[in-house]
Amino acid sequence: MSPNDLPVQSCPDLKSKKAIVTGGAVGIGYAIARALAAQEVTVTIADLNEDAAIKAAESLPGSHHAVAVDVRERGSVDRAFTDAVEKIGGLDILIANAGVSTMRPAVDLTDEDWDFNMDVNARGVFMCNQWAARRFLEQGHGVITNTASLAAKVGAPFLAHYSASKFAVVGWTQGLARELAPKGIRVNAVCPGLVKTSMQDREIQWEATLRGMTPEEVFQDYISQTPLGRIETPEDVAGVVVFLCSDAARFMTGQALNVTGGIYTT
Ligand SMILES: NC(=O)c1ccc[n+]([C@@H]2O[C@H](COP(=O)([O-])OP(=O)(O)OC[C@H]3O[C@@H](n4cnc5c(N)ncnc54)[C@H](O)[C@@H]3O)[C@@H](O)[C@H]2O)c1
Repeated sequence: MSPNDLPVQSCPDLKSKKAIVTGGAVGIGYAIARALAAQEVTVTIADLNEDAAIKAAESLPGSHHAVAVDVRERGSVDRAFTDAVEKIGGLDILIANAGVSTMRPAVDLTDEDWDFNMDVNARGVFMCNQWAARRFLEQGHGVITNTASLAAKVGAPFLAHYSASKFAVVGWTQGLARELAPKGIRVNAVCPGLVKTSMQDREIQWEATLRGMTPEEVFQDYISQTPLGRIETPEDVAGVVVFLCSDAARFMTGQALNVTGGIYTT
């Protein structure tokens, strides 16, 4: 099996469930949407890039949907998620995955860097989780999986602001999980490592400039940091997210699972 293939897994309990995947038009979110669709989950891809979201939803096997959303804006989340639930006929699973990064030495960070990363990564997860949590409390069931990061466990150079936003995701996940646990609603996070996506492509260019290396040297450095010896793929992450959403993880909540190819983190 190639690292770009979805792992073979069967979670019959997920069949006919309804999910929203934010940031699902490309990258890790798209792989998660594909992996859920493979379990016969009906998916709404909710993304800032509406055209890409529509294209992504159309490419999934089965009948799926797309909505435009800016996870930073409460009104946008309200409208998009209400529309999504109408289109797919309910909601059982939220994947709060939309995220952004910028790279700069901490001493040169601008207010815009800080706000952009915090607004999408931390506030966005808060807004989307809160919308879903209210609905899940009303209906008495539901599961949430947030995309945090390796940078949510160890601060990363040139990404101090991004790390801060992802530490926030893990703290929020733990607190929300403990509040919702008595109601049987599970909330977990996944912490990917160095994943080949458009975000990584941008980061490699920035890091090459910041570290005085070529982009290829940065890429090879990512691989050499990874004990399993190759670059991580979105599909590596998607299989773990499906697991977390399924009954196989029914006694797990408030966890932030590392999916890093063995890069050491707490
Ligand atoms: N790529 C990595 O190495 C890596 C590692 C750890 C964690 N992550 C996290 O995984 C998630 C997905 O990252 P990726 O690498 O697939 O990124 P990506 O840039 O390839 O895709 C991100 C998606 O999120 C969407 N998005 C951005 N801002 C949005 C907003 N305000 N509202 C709605 N959608 C928005 C984009 O349009 C895009 O479709 C992010 O939360 C990221 O922080 C990525």
